Amino acid sequence: MRPMLIHAVRTPASTEMAADIYAGLSRPGQKELPSKYLYDEVGSALFEVISALPEYGVTRADERLLRRHATEIVAHLKSPVIVAELGSGAGKKTRGLLQALSHHHRQRTSYYPIEISASALAMCERELRDIDCLHVVGFEREYLDGLLEVAARRRQGEQLLVLFLGGTIGNFEHPAEERFLRQVRDVLRPGDALLLGTDLHKPLPVLLQAYDDPLGVTAAFNLNLLARVNRELGANFVLENFQHEARFNTAANSIEMHLRSKVAQSVTIPDLGLTITLHRDETIWTESSHKYTREEILRMAQVSGFHCRGQWIDGEWPFAESLLIAE
Ligand code: TRP
Repeated sequence: MRPMLIHAVRTPASTEMAADIYAGLSRPGQKELPSKYLYDEVGSALFEVISALPEYGVTRADERLLRRHATEIVAHLKSPVIVAELGSGAGKKTRGLLQALSHHHRQRTSYYPIEISASALAMCERELRDIDCLHVVGFEREYLDGLLEVAARRRQGEQLLVLFLGGTIGNFEHPAEERFLRQVRDVLRPGDALLLGTDLHKPLPVLLQAYDDPLGVTAAFNLNLLARVNRELGANFVLENFQHEARFNTAANSIEMHLRSKVAQSVTIPDLGLTITLHRDETIWTESSHKYTREEILRMAQVSGFHCRGQWIDGEWPFAESLLIAE
């Protein structure tokens, strides 16, 4: 039998993605690929699997805290409140909180998930549409663009609650996390709230397993970024020539994710008019995930124009949910 030829349908990358990838790969020194491009349809699905892995406790801790303390968190909020979530993903972890909100306030609550992944946003809308009195309107936007649109829709007297969960704040490179929180604060009014999830310090072996699981799902998730550049920019990355690597950067208290070139090689990306060379063991950096202390969270909140109203910590997987109020 003759092998079947599969012609992949090319979805061309946006000009912004092309520019970001060009900049990251042609940099002198450490090459990089921006982590937001990890989340295409395949990447978003793989991240859902990562969230279910026994080694990756982040999402479960986040979910547990929101479930256990939803009533308490919601009691700190005024009524009426509208909710915007930065990077909702598939929306599973937010469910408990939204249910508590609609119970507590006994009135229609609007929930605006903001998400760059269209497939994650669609899952989110499907997941949460059965909650009583909840009106869900998704925005396929970058965080701040989406937040500005939500803020423009709010009515007189409504408090805005922004959810930034999953520990994603840890993916900003210091001091970008403070700059970002200040930008969020600038969209808010005094008294508005930000519920911020942050992953805390934990023993090194636990962290390394969380970002390099034995099943290889995280490796596939990271390598998918190269596959995506192949799919969308016509590149010829040979995936077998790269290895996923998670390292701990002690100075920065961050887990760093890299794709290590197993051989000396060159890769061509026709749509960018770019050919890069990688020497053996050279890496492409894809993401860092900073791990916090409680004091650090308070300091970060304060310098960004918030004060902390409440903090909840998971007992099984050190992770904190902090309710910050805009000053
Ligand atoms: N933002 C998540 C985190 O820092 C994403 C993530 C989990 C991730 N595993 C990864 C990103 C591996 C890149 C590679 O926990």
